[in-house]
Amino acid sequence: MSRTPLFDALKEYNRRSRGYFRIPGHRFQRGIPKEFRDFAGDNIFKIDITETPLTDDLHNPRTVIAESQGYTAEAFGAERSFYLVNGTTCGNQSMIIAAASEGEKILVPRNAHKSVMAGLIISGAVPVYMPVDYIREIGITGALKPETARVAALANPDARGIFAVSPNYHGLCSDLGSLAETAHENGMPLLVDEAHGAHYYFCDSLPDGALSLGADAAAQSLHKVAGALTQSSLLHLKSELIDAAKIDSALRMTMSTSPSYILMTSLELARDELEKNGSQLWEQTISLAERMKSEINRAGCFHCPGKDELETYGVHDSDPTRIIINCDNAGISGYDLKTRLWKMYSIDVEMADSRNILLLLTPGNTAVEADNLISALQTFSPAPITTEKPEAGELIPEILGIPQMALPPRKAYFSKTKIIPWSEITGKVAAEPAAPYPPGIPVLYPGEIITKEIFEFLNSVKAAGRHMHGPGDHSLSTFRICDI
Ligand SMILES: Cc1ncc(COP(=O)(O)O)c(C=O)c1O
Repeated sequence: MSRTPLFDALKEYNRRSRGYFRIPGHRFQRGIPKEFRDFAGDNIFKIDITETPLTDDLHNPRTVIAESQGYTAEAFGAERSFYLVNGTTCGNQSMIIAAASEGEKILVPRNAHKSVMAGLIISGAVPVYMPVDYIREIGITGALKPETARVAALANPDARGIFAVSPNYHGLCSDLGSLAETAHENGMPLLVDEAHGAHYYFCDSLPDGALSLGADAAAQSLHKVAGALTQSSLLHLKSELIDAAKIDSALRMTMSTSPSYILMTSLELARDELEKNGSQLWEQTISLAERMKSEINRAGCFHCPGKDELETYGVHDSDPTRIIINCDNAGISGYDLKTRLWKMYSIDVEMADSRNILLLLTPGNTAVEADNLISALQTFSPAPITTEKPEAGELIPEILGIPQMALPPRKAYFSKTKIIPWSEITGKVAAEPAAPYPPGIPVLYPGEIITKEIFEFLNSVKAAGRHMHGPGDHSLSTFRICDI
């Protein structure tokens, strides 16, 4: 029996259609510019239709979308799954909106993606931030520790939920089982940003998925790890600790009223593929990743740290298909290595920081690509480490700390504000966030008092020429503060 009812309905609609007088305006492929059609082919445009008599309505699903989401819930072990066409961004926002209203507390790890901050601004919830360890040996952020969440939950019994990011961008997973226990003992839901972990549910050699470890809700970017198109994500619910009706209503606020059927179909087919072949495909990917790591480590210049080296930093498990390549012994920064790999070898990697680069492997990667990268890295030779000082723009959470919150993010964002010269911001209350990108984790939230350490850190990010999301003035010559 087909488990792709939406795709089937779209093909049937195309077969039957004899006249189309509705949105979108391009009328299947006919109104698409020729260059685009020549490049993409015609069929993709034939499924870019809308809520026709055969294709249901994402915002009130009753037929094929409801059925398709039902199969998805079954595949992930959820009670209910929602198709998201605005990425995990709208999933995170909706989890926060559904869990905590204006003035209510929610426990948020300091390594949360900026979409969580948007959820706080929309909902008016008051974040209680939980620190996340910094892995000094390689210079990246670890995972939220269960003890940290336990202390925060005991100190804030009125909080409406615990939010966690697991895995993080680097594939490092928290002990979600213990976090769920803490949350449930305190009557709170555990909400998980699992943007990078949708594949875990389909292969035994990967970490366990959040829903199987006790999470009450999880949002996943299928476009990051599976064969779904950019922006295609899922939100799953697994318990009554989070109100499905509130999630439904939050999603209607945070998603387009014209959801793309191409994206929804890509979600359906990506889930179908994971169910049918996920185990075998991801086992192959893990083998490829393990070979790459051992060859890179054997060459001696770069180092791919293993799980055992990271355990003390809250890292309970890790994704073997995320490859962190530490550059400390190579006499080159992660930023420069990323640039050189592209400029000299046309190899593009996901992310760099001052000491590492990060590779994401999926079943789409080939052995040839792996060999290209290994050969490129073998052209480098070890160089002595000259300094232990962090490089410009390096994020050191212990030094930065968590600034004092003068106003919750929503109040700060909507307060009376003014723009002042950058040099005068220390001690003032931020009205806008600052998040070096990637990975887009705010070091400063609206409403926080800007410390000397944050100011100096942001200056070093600026000096290193890194992208900064949040400030309206990208040149950081001025900054918007609360006029209070
Ligand atoms: C940890 C994390 N959460 C959420 C997001 C947002 O996901 P999306 O791009 O699907 O909106 C990202 C994006 O990079 C992310 O890394």
